[in-house]
Amino acid sequence: MRRIRSWIRSPRHYVLKAKDKLVGLGEGFYSQKRESYSPGDYRWLALTEMLYGGRQLGGRSSGENIGGDRMSPCHHGYSRAYAEFLKPIIIDGIGDDFIIVEVGILNGNGLALWCDLFPQARVIGMDLDLLNFEKNRAELEDLGAFEQNTPEVYNIDQLDRNVVNKVLREVLGDSKVNIFIDDGHHSIESIEITFEGIKPYLAENYVCFIEDNFDTYDHLARRHRDCRWTTRGEMTVVGNR
Ligand SMILES: C[S@@+](CC[C@H](N)C(=O)[O-])C[C@H]1O[C@@H](n2cnc3c(N)ncnc32)[C@H](O)[C@@H]1O
Repeated sequence: MRRIRSWIRSPRHYVLKAKDKLVGLGEGFYSQKRESYSPGDYRWLALTEMLYGGRQLGGRSSGENIGGDRMSPCHHGYSRAYAEFLKPIIIDGIGDDFIIVEVGILNGNGLALWCDLFPQARVIGMDLDLLNFEKNRAELEDLGAFEQNTPEVYNIDQLDRNVVNKVLREVLGDSKVNIFIDDGHHSIESIEITFEGIKPYLAENYVCFIEDNFDTYDHLARRHRDCRWTTRGEMTVVGNR
């Protein structure tokens, strides 16, 4: 039922994902260099995910955290959605106070991508377990990650509202967040705690990507009517643009 609702809300997402899987971002595509595309283009996003150890082809994952699977149409297929919502930010350019926060960093595939896409931004990663990233960090650096920007990383438990509020207060202070990504625990409880924690820190112009839960829109959009909510398949996007 929730899949059908998701289809009805964002049919274009599913049509393009199927097209990309069959012809656009199929096997041959990944032999290309990302430099063939402008930074932030959906193909640049898919190739950058691959560059840093992402998963491009193959069937659905077994359900465990694997990371590096948000852009490929053979997995979550969010590259066009990310490109769509990041485009105005890339066109406008970013200031020195621009902040990106990603909750749920696993091996750091996303952090490497955000650092390349926004070399002047403050890139902040948060996770319950930072060990996966620390273990993979040297490998990412060997692949060229973090040459232009270095991420900050912090421990957080999205299921504990007090921890979320405390960590955000300590890390962000008076700063405002321009891009927020929740790719962590993925339960409605964690999504709600985390969104309500980050909301006071959102900049005047912001976009939040909340990945991998079909129920986010139904659960949160009505309760936060002051934000603009939309979906792209399993991902909910919140923003004011
Ligand atoms: C799907 S992975 C993230 C993949 C990553 N964004 C990427 O770019 O490849 C999910 C991450 O969420 C983290 N996580 C799980 N439960 C959490 C919680 N309660 N609080 C914070 N992070 C959590 C896991 O440790 C894991 O690293």
